[in-house]
Amino acid sequence: MPQRGETSMKQCRSEVKPGRRRWRHRKAGFAAGGVLVVVLTYLLVSQQLAARARYVIITKAQWTTDEQLIRAPGATAEKEGTVSCSSEGYFSESCEVDGDVRVNGRVLTVTVVGPTNGSDPVEWRIRPYAQKYVGEVRKATVTLVPGAPAAACTVAHTVPAVLFAIGGHSGRNFFHDYSDVLVPLFAASRRYGGEVQFLISNVAWPQWLDKYHHLLRRLSRYPAVDLDADDAPVRCFPHVTVGLHIHKLLTVVPESAPGGDGRCLTTADFTKFQREAYALPRNATRRRGRRGRRGCWFVNVEEVARAAEAAGFEAVVTDLWAWGESDVAGKARTVNSFDAMLGVHGAGLTNAMFLPPGAVNIQVVPYGRMEAIARSEYGDPMTDMGLKYLEYVIDLQESTLLETLGPDHQAIRDPEAVHRSGWDQVSEFYLKKQDVRVNITRFAPTLAQAFHHLRQQLQ
Ligand SMILES: *[C@@H]1O[C@H](CO)[C@@H](O)[C@H](O)[C@H]1NC(C)=O
Ligand SMILES: *[C@@H]1O[C@H](CO)[C@@H](O)[C@H](O)[C@H]1NC(C)=O
Ligand SMILES: *[C@@H]1O[C@H](CO)[C@@H](O)[C@H](O)[C@H]1NC(C)=O
Repeated sequence: MPQRGETSMKQCRSEVKPGRRRWRHRKAGFAAGGVLVVVLTYLLVSQQLAARARYVIITKAQWTTDEQLIRAPGATAEKEGTVSCSSEGYFSESCEVDGDVRVNGRVLTVTVVGPTNGSDPVEWRIRPYAQKYVGEVRKATVTLVPGAPAAACTVAHTVPAVLFAIGGHSGRNFFHDYSDVLVPLFAASRRYGGEVQFLISNVAWPQWLDKYHHLLRRLSRYPAVDLDADDAPVRCFPHVTVGLHIHKLLTVVPESAPGGDGRCLTTADFTKFQREAYALPRNATRRRGRRGRRGCWFVNVEEVARAAEAAGFEAVVTDLWAWGESDVAGKARTVNSFDAMLGVHGAGLTNAMFLPPGAVNIQVVPYGRMEAIARSEYGDPMTDMGLKYLEYVIDLQESTLLETLGPDHQAIRDPEAVHRSGWDQVSEFYLKKQDVRVNITRFAPTLAQAFHHLRQQLQ
């Protein structure tokens, strides 16, 4: 009897070990080398807050406990249609539909003929966006019908399809573009080596497809079908994956990501894929010198930059958000030319995935018990990407909240209570209203550690 995620779980061997050790034997000097991008993303954070409430309170426990298998009873025969749905994890639900599968885009139905337990159809309602709580994304209906074949095919495809929605949080926020769509899509479709048809619903921002065409066209060699506007009433496929699945934020979990060659994919494979797609030249850290523009993000950004230079880096302060929404490739190439990135918790840190493996990512965690969120959104994924992740949790003295709210405010005295009252409060105080004035003395050891890490690799 096939088990949960059968199509994905057991078809690959996990080797895990990405990245880092590859560079150990590089010979290169590192005298004055290395560059630090100081990226601070506070001003941008507010854009993502409203939409983020649902998942931010997750804990590790939720990753592993909320596991459930929905399966059509008795669906075992090879030639007969099968539906295997999973709502594993906290975020997503998805179905693997196998057999003679028919898709109607306008009404968003996916139908396959196969044995059901009795004479009634079995139906699943799946939100094909990886964050299932995003209400604005229309649900798809997956139906296993007994007996008679469904309607004739208008277009008969010979390749499998992946059906997913864009919109939701994606398109509004760089982090969500990756965590909710691009990384899970890679995990779902890379195995096909381009021989896969993307069926996209909820195309709220058509420019999104242009923005990420470098990645999309490498995953699928066929133009994506906009299901909302699809004129073909019945598209037929041998297999359809309905919905994308986040197993862990911004991470490719090997057990659920077959590479198609017997090997499991890792997050490092995703970053490698990006380097290929954007023709990023650097797949390892090395000595560089470069000057860039200056902006102002941290309250004392100039001081932070000087501290970085004192630690041995050449520092460039830049606002990656200002790079223009559409030019992901240009931004990716710029980030790829650095050896380290430093930024306050926020979507801008997502750009660290363009760094070469072995590079350092320093996340500055704001005041207010934000460590767990910071780690699950960026810390853990960056480590999986083969980056050296360092974290600097600021002290109350380094937060502008102390001045703006005063020492007696609840947000200062009792962050736990603020967390208990909900995400709106957490975001209001700790993300929207807070700026960071880094205590250079306290921060210096973190910079030294970053520099030391890079130098070690290059010896
Ligand atoms: C089919 O449904 C009946 C009644 O709901 C149930 O008792 C039986 O276990 C089911 N059979 C399978 C194979 O799931
Ligand atoms: C890194 O890129 C160089 C030049 O393209 C290539 O020769 C080398 O094999 C690559 N190394 C890895 C580990 O991908
Ligand atoms: C900065 O950090 C150092 C070391 O932790 C500490 O001794 C000093 O008091 C801090 N300075 C301020 C202004 O908080």
